[in-house]
Amino acid sequence: MASVEDVPLLETQGLSKRFAGLEAVKSVDLRLEKETVRAIIGPNGAGKTTLVNLISGRLKPTSGKIYYRGVDITNLPAHKRASMGIVYTFQIVSLFPSLTVFENVVLAVQRRLGRGILLRLDRDSVYRQSEKALELVGLEDEAELEAGALPYGHQRLLDIAMALALQPVLLILDEPTQGLSAGEIEKITDLVKKLSKNTTILLIEHNISVVMELAHKITVMADGSILAEGPPSEVEKDVRVQSIYLGV
Ligand SMILES: Nc1ncnc2c1ncn2[C@@H]1O[C@H](COP(=O)(O)OP(=O)(O)OP(=O)(O)O)[C@@H](O)[C@H]1O
Ligand SMILES: [Mg+2]
Repeated sequence: MASVEDVPLLETQGLSKRFAGLEAVKSVDLRLEKETVRAIIGPNGAGKTTLVNLISGRLKPTSGKIYYRGVDITNLPAHKRASMGIVYTFQIVSLFPSLTVFENVVLAVQRRLGRGILLRLDRDSVYRQSEKALELVGLEDEAELEAGALPYGHQRLLDIAMALALQPVLLILDEPTQGLSAGEIEKITDLVKKLSKNTTILLIEHNISVVMELAHKITVMADGSILAEGPPSEVEKDVRVQSIYLGV
């Protein structure tokens, strides 16, 4: 008999998304275990962002199901999923540049949890969580600066802080190292490592050395489907992955 421990944190069954004539995600069965880092890799247009948009609730699937801790969440809106712990960052940094760093974090909590916020958190705890999130990413000294004045690498850290303030159980990061310098990439890598001790992380990432360093398991997507899946050492050896993704 299946026990509670056998239930994955997140599971998709036959998850599909069609945009007009294009099937961006094709019958994806994904199973995420608790407190691991799962990387999703694959060429541009493979359907990675679309898949995580379906999981976070930003998009509705054309067909298929999504289960979170064994509960069917396929039809729940994004803010409900956020309040249950499914939190994402955008592939493109989305901040209010003229608000302060701290205000951006507070606002992110308020916007993403919607009206439910009053039930779950009062203003003081939103502030406390926002401060804690900024400390986690190392931006506490920049809290009162205008977000738009931050260097790009710090804006990406702020983006992650905005997600952390929501106390994620499942944190979805869509290309967090895109456009960063080597030093900044190292910062993000260290942060993800630290967070993964008590948060499950779904990481879309093009930088293969970051993937190899962080991922417990890799899912390779191509053309809307899962092409390969396994621990980094195995996926690295897969000839199909080498030809399609790594260009070898
Ligand atoms: N809102 C949309 N409307 C129509 N087509 C879309 C939409 N969003 C994505 N697509 C298409 O779906 C396919 C998958 O896109 P998606 O953004 O999921 O890929 P990706 O793997 O995240 O790529 P990248 O690595 O470039 O971020 C692409 O062909 C894209 O053009
Ligand atoms: Mg993408």
